[in-house]
Amino acid sequence: MPRPHGGRLVERLTAPDRVEKAAEEASELTVVQVSEELRLDLENVAFGLYSPLAGPLNQGDYLTVLAKGRLACDLPWTIPILLDLTEEEASGFSVGDRLALAQDGERFAVLDVQEKYGWDRKTHCERVYRTLDPAHPGVAKTHEMRPALVGGCIEVFNPSPGKYPRYRLKPRETRFLFREKGWRTVAGFQTRNAPHIGHEYVQKTALAFVDGLFINPLIGRKKPGDFTDEVILETYEAAFRHYFLRNSATMVTLEMEMRYAGPREAIHHAIVRKNYGCSHFIVGRDHAGVGSYYGPFEAQEIFEDYPDLGVTPIFFRNFFHCNRCGGPQNDKICPHGPEDHVNYSGTKMRSLLLEGKRPDETMMRPEVVDVILRHKEPFNP
Ligand code: ADX
Repeated sequence: MPRPHGGRLVERLTAPDRVEKAAEEASELTVVQVSEELRLDLENVAFGLYSPLAGPLNQGDYLTVLAKGRLACDLPWTIPILLDLTEEEASGFSVGDRLALAQDGERFAVLDVQEKYGWDRKTHCERVYRTLDPAHPGVAKTHEMRPALVGGCIEVFNPSPGKYPRYRLKPRETRFLFREKGWRTVAGFQTRNAPHIGHEYVQKTALAFVDGLFINPLIGRKKPGDFTDEVILETYEAAFRHYFLRNSATMVTLEMEMRYAGPREAIHHAIVRKNYGCSHFIVGRDHAGVGSYYGPFEAQEIFEDYPDLGVTPIFFRNFFHCNRCGGPQNDKICPHGPEDHVNYSGTKMRSLLLEGKRPDETMMRPEVVDVILRHKEPFNP
């Protein structure tokens, strides 16, 4: 099992016997409000998912993350974790102060303020998303962000229960789980979708080489038209019941928003899975992509810049169904031409499902289709 990113698990969660005192202390501090997504990011820091971060980035780290995809200490880090405030909010406290952080009026953490600084949206978008197009969901989100950034060290005393508490394990727990199962090598699988046959094939091909498969759907803000979180979980439960060996795969949710940052997000996804204890991380076609902002394999190519990542990527070409081979194939192994190939197209399957029709069994498992069709609204509005 790999060591956590940076060498040790950095957790910033208040010990249970100190929670009451921490809440009392926080009730007397200046409070700033954060969004639900930012709260989840800060909770991810607290759980150790973002080791070695101890809070929102200071300016030195932020600038090297943008310029080089690394923290100031040179450790790989590609997605900036930022606390953004209005100028007015930021003028209400000073460096060295301790603040309470709240979401929807509920105080959940304290922050020791180390820095306040400004930032440039254009550079941010160019570096993180490689585009300035406001139609890109990550760029659109960046434009909603506030102008003052605050860096520092947090402690979370009141984490939200999570949308699916039973599935929301922390790295400390998944590392224990992998050891219990006797898995020395584990392949992490990121997803924001209900599984189609292409996903299953990618997962099982990886599983042929490692001890365990860690299915880790992303739960949280996604774009309209993506599957709802309920559907993703229930379809995987069905897939596990019918198509996976017991004890070869497990599912844990990751409460984190999708950024659709393609290559940079693939590295971020790999780092988080390394912290969970995964030795390997699966990267297929157009990982974390949206529209045509990134080439289909750019999210694989970026790994060349990170030989020191400490988690081994497993790359897959695009899988499709070949009518002549009668199953999933890709252009590395299939001798037949495009006339025999049918893509596992999420868009096509979605439009069928929206009409209440069933994608055929070469595209999606019938038990998975049953779950989707049982839901009145399987897609995000
Ligand atoms: S993602 O935005 O979370 O990457 P999705 O849930 O569809 O989207 O993909 C999960 C993983 O499966 C990603 O690594 C993606 O590249 C890979 N993948 C999805 N479809 C295919 C396919 N047809 N062939 C190869 N890899 C695929």
